[in-house]
Amino acid sequence: MKGVLLAGGTGSRLYPLTRITNKHLLPIGDRPMVSYGIEALVTAGVTEIMVVTGGTHAGEFLRLLSNGDEFGVDRLLYAYQDRPGGIAQALGLAERFAADEAIVVMLADNILERTFRSSVDSFADEGKGARLLLAEAEDPEHLRHVGVPELDGGGRLVRIVEKPDVPPSRYCVTGVYLYDPTVFEVISTLKPSGRGELEITDVNNHYVETGAALYDVIEGFWGDAGESIDAYYAVNDYVRRNGANRL
Ligand code: G1P
Repeated sequence: MKGVLLAGGTGSRLYPLTRITNKHLLPIGDRPMVSYGIEALVTAGVTEIMVVTGGTHAGEFLRLLSNGDEFGVDRLLYAYQDRPGGIAQALGLAERFAADEAIVVMLADNILERTFRSSVDSFADEGKGARLLLAEAEDPEHLRHVGVPELDGGGRLVRIVEKPDVPPSRYCVTGVYLYDPTVFEVISTLKPSGRGELEITDVNNHYVETGAALYDVIEGFWGDAGESIDAYYAVNDYVRRNGANRL
């Protein structure tokens, strides 16, 4: 399976840290943030990766990641998002790279304690629809800042609500998504949201509505280091104590 690592965006929630660099180049522990996403994919057995970035610091990704050899990547490609069009628009840039294969997509500000290799392996077998990774929220207040799934009595996905005032469950939709190649058709049907962007939650809801979305609940720590300055430091504290991407 191929991997798409999304590392664009303005990082406005981390201003002013992100005035002088891309959010995904900020340090987590002893390394720039994006290197954890590369490591997560490689640890999950994904060694053909496209990094999608944008904005004013794109060249630094080449200096940092080069051809990916140091990280165990076989084939590293880059794409450039030339306008702030949202996560789903950024993913659309990987269509030709994916070339009709299933993909694992990861937001490069997401840091996980444990590898998601088992999800990748089971999706590689099924290869259909979408599979989302959920994390149980320790603090219910956190749910207002993420996508939250509503589940029915049988534990099936009913819909995903983005940043809900009244969260329909205690699970966060993390930034790790597995998709079949129809994801690019889905993206082409999306309309911009209220903030003028193509939303990944609309992609996921498309799969949910057609009964084609499954999920796994991950074990261990999950953090979105781009969510706020507090979240950024909480992720840093965690990684400095415990590391990340453990098998
Ligand atoms: C995005 C998604 C959200 C998800 C989060 C995970 O939010 O829209 O559903 O829970 O990533 O990191 P963003 O961080 O872009 O606000």
